[in-house]
Amino acid sequence: MEYLEIAKSKLQTLRALDNYYILAIESSCDETAVAITRNTEIVASVISSQIDIHKRFGGVVPEIASRNHILAIDNLVKEAFKKANLTFNDISVIAVTYGAGLLGALLVGVAYAKALAYALQLPLIAINHVKSHVFANFIAHKDLQMPFMCLLVSGGHTEILEVKSYHDIEILGSTLDDAVGEAFDKVARVLGFSYPGGPEIEKHAKLGKNCISLPRAFKGEKHFNFSYSGLKTAVLNYVNTLKLKGQDIPYNDIACSFQTEAVAVLVEKAIRACKKNNYNKLCIAGGVAANGYLRNELDKAGKKHNIEIIAPPKYLCTDNAAMVGVAGYFAIKEGIGASDLYQDADARA
Ligand SMILES: Nc1ncnc2c1ncn2[C@@H]1O[C@H](COP(=O)(O)OP(=O)(O)OP(=O)(O)O)[C@@H](O)[C@H]1O
Ligand SMILES: [Mg+2]
Repeated sequence: MEYLEIAKSKLQTLRALDNYYILAIESSCDETAVAITRNTEIVASVISSQIDIHKRFGGVVPEIASRNHILAIDNLVKEAFKKANLTFNDISVIAVTYGAGLLGALLVGVAYAKALAYALQLPLIAINHVKSHVFANFIAHKDLQMPFMCLLVSGGHTEILEVKSYHDIEILGSTLDDAVGEAFDKVARVLGFSYPGGPEIEKHAKLGKNCISLPRAFKGEKHFNFSYSGLKTAVLNYVNTLKLKGQDIPYNDIACSFQTEAVAVLVEKAIRACKKNNYNKLCIAGGVAANGYLRNELDKAGKKHNIEIIAPPKYLCTDNAAMVGVAGYFAIKEGIGASDLYQDADARA
């Protein structure tokens, strides 16, 4: 039998089963990550972050990211199996992030997963990176059920989603320009903080006051879209004006004022979307969901409006492979097809 026929037949058997092991691989940006998952459990999860490599450039350099994925991936797979105390023979399926992300970086994970799937004659499933962020919520919240609303806030995305199933996610609103994580990173850069900027802004914001007036896009409008480029540019102009005048730059106050404004619009729209669509459960996902101020503000607003706020633990908000494995588990139940060996990476998936 051809590889794909074998893969399809094995995947078909898994649809009705639980408690099998998934090997998950993620390499969409600057984290190489491998996990072994079973249902919504993490059996082992290892991450090799390239943050220290890219820090000196102030952001991720795609070609360098790809090369470092190549150096890291095989050892990480070995480490994951060692941690899980399992072997290749215990795995039933391989799940890999195929997009969205940096093309060269994605290709490393996809090529590795294809080769391994073929060598082991195991089914391969291609998982969407953004959806996998959403499914990170199931790891710590075992009783979570779809449908729910989700505020997805990451380095490349800012979206309000109605999550009905893995295959049926409706985008109710999204950013028209910069993503909120991108805005955190760019503002941090203007302020001279190191990469990645989100955690740095959060740290400095705790030491400052919300005393600088910054603009809010789409104020009073009813839709659920976002725009962060105006806010980012306002900070840039504010800093440049002070520099031209030779005045001190109040870094902490700027960080606090920016974070307050960036978060306020997320909270307002996410809560309003829940109310409008009759949801009393809001999940958050993506790297910016690790932000303590956002989590607190959402909790406060949730209590006020009777909406339960559900968040992954902070370490599962940024890129990891455990979320890919768990998304894979749901995707298999919903009938995702086995990928063939032509499976490609897709930067814009
Ligand atoms: N504590 C924090 N506060 C604010 N932002 C944060 C925090 N921690 C991480 N971030 C931001 O999260 C982003 C990284 O998240 P993530 O890994 O989900 O993004 P990505 O994978 O690059 O993008 P995408 O998932 O959209 O493809 C960065 O922009 C980073 O600054
Ligand atoms: Mg991500």
